[in-house]
Amino acid sequence: MAATKKFSSLFPLLSLICFVSVFLLLSLSRKASISSSPTHPQVLQFKPIAAANNIDTDATGSDTDASDGSSCDYSDGSWIYDPDARFDRYDSSCKEIFKGWNCILNNKSNGRDIVKWRWKPRNCDLPPFDPVKFIHSYRDTNIGFVGDSLNRNMFVSLFCTLKRVSGEVKKWRPAGADRGFTFLQYNLTIAYHRTNLLARYGRWSANGNGGKLEALGYKEGYRVDVDIPEGTWEKAPSFHDILIFNTGHWWRAPSKFDPVKSPMLFFEKGLPVIPPVPPDVGLDKVLKHMIRFVEKNKQRGAIKLFRTQSPRHFEGGDWDQGGSCQRLQPLLPEQVEELFSLKNNGTNSEARLVNQHLFKALKGSNFHILDITRMSEFRADAHPSSAGGKKHDDCMHWCLPGITDTWNDLFVTHLNNLKIGN
Ligand SMILES: *[C@@H]1O[C@H](CO)[C@@H](O)[C@H](O)[C@H]1NC(C)=O
Ligand SMILES: *[C@@H]1O[C@H](CO)[C@@H](O)[C@H](O)[C@H]1NC(C)=O
Ligand SMILES: *[C@@H]1O[C@H](CO)[C@@H](O)[C@H](O)[C@H]1NC(C)=O
Repeated sequence: MAATKKFSSLFPLLSLICFVSVFLLLSLSRKASISSSPTHPQVLQFKPIAAANNIDTDATGSDTDASDGSSCDYSDGSWIYDPDARFDRYDSSCKEIFKGWNCILNNKSNGRDIVKWRWKPRNCDLPPFDPVKFIHSYRDTNIGFVGDSLNRNMFVSLFCTLKRVSGEVKKWRPAGADRGFTFLQYNLTIAYHRTNLLARYGRWSANGNGGKLEALGYKEGYRVDVDIPEGTWEKAPSFHDILIFNTGHWWRAPSKFDPVKSPMLFFEKGLPVIPPVPPDVGLDKVLKHMIRFVEKNKQRGAIKLFRTQSPRHFEGGDWDQGGSCQRLQPLLPEQVEELFSLKNNGTNSEARLVNQHLFKALKGSNFHILDITRMSEFRADAHPSSAGGKKHDDCMHWCLPGITDTWNDLFVTHLNNLKIGN
């Protein structure tokens, strides 16, 4: 608990609060500036939320030089290529790398080039991850990643990085996790809790005795309990000292939650929400309840982060329509806008739409926002693509080594900034 004890005096608490407010404002202002264009009225299942963008950004001073780091907007910057960059954090032999993400072993042509691009925030530098320092500072700490496979992608990066500097690990499943490891010399535990929607869900079929959904003609679907966390992570808040959440892609996965054949049917307090609401409204309800659940059940002093949506890069169709991601270099800013701007209603507009829901739900909570969306939007070159070894190209997960290493740089930088003032 070394990391959390440090918050016990008043001064660090105050600086923490300051940091949270500044950071939230910065994240929101960033959001406002990238999606301020008029949005299309009927985009997929997620409708843009106009109100969340109309935040006055003048007071944040995001354009001033911020050398102390804590007030830097790390999400605004560009990728710089360094042909001589050496990446020695870990390599393709790390066993925890899921096979389809191991682009070097799978011979992806640019597999070794991906880590030669360095993220340079506009007004400051993102310090590289120092695993030795990290593992010393977070002795006796539990860190939980809670979310979908994209959070696992980030978890694996952290595991491989730390395994390099401390080889003695115990593999186990703490607090219901899908997988987890304790670095024994330091008593540092990291775990991945798998959950697609955060909320509990399961198959639903019409009851012969009737009911409100039956009366409306529903026969099959998925029951999503907006106020009940999925069992895989319900114990995570009382176990971990640092928690990092995500949800997103599964909210529009028509192959599973087909809006006609197997729609999401939302339940609250055990009863169906009537009239039934679309997934974007369900997402708002789930976020509201899950944020409340975490705040109520977390340990004293726990640090909670929510990671923003990871962008996909399907071009020429969606994942099941022959879409692919064959680029070997990051996108230019204008290409990013073409692919992600909401007014184009493109295949990948999900990223910014989901973020609108997250920012709205997190406003006023004391979660920190880990904004990786913008930096990742550039990286059309960093997905496994056809090297993923599946029938369809994987333009959603990320190669490892790869950019979830940079997400972890950002994660660690945030943690370190929170500790300033000890
Ligand atoms: C947006 O794109 C989706 C398919 O990607 C399409 O089904 C939908 O009709 C489009 N919406 C508008 C308003 O063009
Ligand atoms: C990658 O290339 C090596 C050397 O040419 C080969 O042995 C290996 O089978 C290839 N791996 C895949 C997944 O194609
Ligand atoms: C290891 O860390 C956990 C979590 O902070 C703590 O509860 C436990 O007491 C520690 N164990 C030892 C042997 O220090």
